[in-house]
Amino acid sequence: MNGSELIRPTKELVPQIKAFRDEFINSLNWLHGAQGLRYIEDPEEWLEYSKRLENEETVPNGSSPYTQFVYLRKTDMKIVGMLGVRHRPTEPIETWGGHVGYCVCPSERRKGYAKAMLRDVLPYCKSIGLDRILLTAGDENKGSVRTILANGGVLENYVLSPRHQIMVGRYWIET
Ligand SMILES: CC(C)(COP(=O)(O)OP(=O)(O)OC[C@H]1O[C@@H](n2cnc3c(N)ncnc32)[C@H](O)[C@@H]1OP(=O)(O)O)[C@@H](O)C(=O)NCCC(=O)NCCS
Repeated sequence: MNGSELIRPTKELVPQIKAFRDEFINSLNWLHGAQGLRYIEDPEEWLEYSKRLENEETVPNGSSPYTQFVYLRKTDMKIVGMLGVRHRPTEPIETWGGHVGYCVCPSERRKGYAKAMLRDVLPYCKSIGLDRILLTAGDENKGSVRTILANGGVLENYVLSPRHQIMVGRYWIET
């Protein structure tokens, strides 16, 4: 999207990470695609945690490496969204999870940021060997479903999400 960039979070963005987290915590929204940020209040600690998730050697419990991105609006240097990529569709990802999760600040929704973030991460996914990525969304999450469809998502089937106890659609996007 013009004027915004999908980048890896760094220490220079500590105030923006804090502001992003505060907005979510205050709105009681889920922080999809910002792994650990709900529970880790200190942005520097969260940055270190994110770094550990990136590598096979340091990711906890032998789960998939995970790369964190933020979507930075250059005009006012605000983080408007976050997006995370899991490198491998390990269990339970291959049934009800997915490679990519994302969220947009409640105050910045319906401006096209989710569609743009997802589009912008596709080259990165390809670069780590993912020729196609899996995303899941319940039909009630119309914003997420439309974000996926706008990026070429093709519905494979519906499965029960044990975590949320709802049926979620499994969509594949070619990178
Ligand atoms: C889902 C979410 C990421 C959408 O972000 P967004 O920046 O508002 O989405 P966009 O502005 O790019 O809109 C994408 C499409 O969804 C539609 N849309 C967005 N929110 C919608 C809503 N609440 N109801 C219906 N349609 C909606 C837009 O109109 C657009 O559709 P179009 O391409 O047909 O015009 C955001 O609502 C969010 O952060 N939700 C909480 C976290 C979450 O559910 N993440 C997804 C699961 S991993």
